[in-house]
Amino acid sequence: MNWVIGIVLLVAIGYLLDREVYFYEGVHLGPRVQSWLYDRWSRKYDEGKKESQLRDDEMLAQPLLEALNNIPEPLILDFAAGTGRLSYALMNRPEFHGRIIAVDLSQGMLEQAASKLRPYLSRFEMLRHVSLPLPFPEASFDAVCALEVLELFPGMDEPLAEFARVLRPGGLLLTSRGTEESGRKAKIKSMPEYTSLLERTGFENIRVTKWWKLFDRTLAVKHGASEPVGARSLKDVLQCPACGEIGWEDRPNALRCAHCGRGVAVTKNRIVLG
Ligand SMILES: C[S@@+](CC[C@H](N)C(=O)[O-])C[C@H]1O[C@@H](n2cnc3c(N)ncnc32)[C@H](O)[C@@H]1O
Ligand SMILES: [Zn+2]
Repeated sequence: MNWVIGIVLLVAIGYLLDREVYFYEGVHLGPRVQSWLYDRWSRKYDEGKKESQLRDDEMLAQPLLEALNNIPEPLILDFAAGTGRLSYALMNRPEFHGRIIAVDLSQGMLEQAASKLRPYLSRFEMLRHVSLPLPFPEASFDAVCALEVLELFPGMDEPLAEFARVLRPGGLLLTSRGTEESGRKAKIKSMPEYTSLLERTGFENIRVTKWWKLFDRTLAVKHGASEPVGARSLKDVLQCPACGEIGWEDRPNALRCAHCGRGVAVTKNRIVLG
């Protein structure tokens, strides 16, 4: 009889692991487990996404360039940047003169981004930041991109509200919606639910386009209008985790808060460990 209990236990553990690790990608296990999982997956990540990445120029860079073409040097937040596929597509376009701040909870994923985007490190900066809220004041960015990540939060309201907060009025959101075809029913929102959530969060001019099997692409504009933010660097918008102020001095392998003295480490690949 003991062996029956053993087998039942093994099947239950296997099911739970499959559901929590592969299906929910660690979302219920906390940011430490999530970042550990993504660190493990980081080297193989691009290989698995090769097919959809073939269209990154057409599906991601082109619509962003069109929407931002009246801003000479837009400041873009690439949230959950992963291996930097969106940033890479944008930086490869010679007409893009803006700056990008890439945020992710996984240092491993950002290391991959750093190696791909090495020629652009003067305009591409990276911050490892583990949870919301984001360490930026409101209206800090001309555009916020958050691809293939909304489903990794327990609810989409919190990340969407945070994107709306850090976007300037009239700023652009580029995000994605898990498709019915992905078979991930528990993680996706129906189209009406999704668009009404975006509207309630303060977005308008919502355009959802078929992208690839697992995700639709979404473009939306934050209600209102304001002057472009323009080319600022991470040091101009990053709030100190201790005192909340902005103002940084360069130190060897670190940034030091000019207000309270708190240090923040910077890796040799220039990832700021917030
Ligand atoms: C499926 S990947 C998408 C990466 C990239 N946006 C792309 O389209 O290839 C999800 C990414 O979200 C990151 N992530 C998950 N939860 C996050 C959070 N709360 N804050 C920052 N990054 C997060 C993961 O580390 C991972 O790099
Ligand atoms: Zn400080």
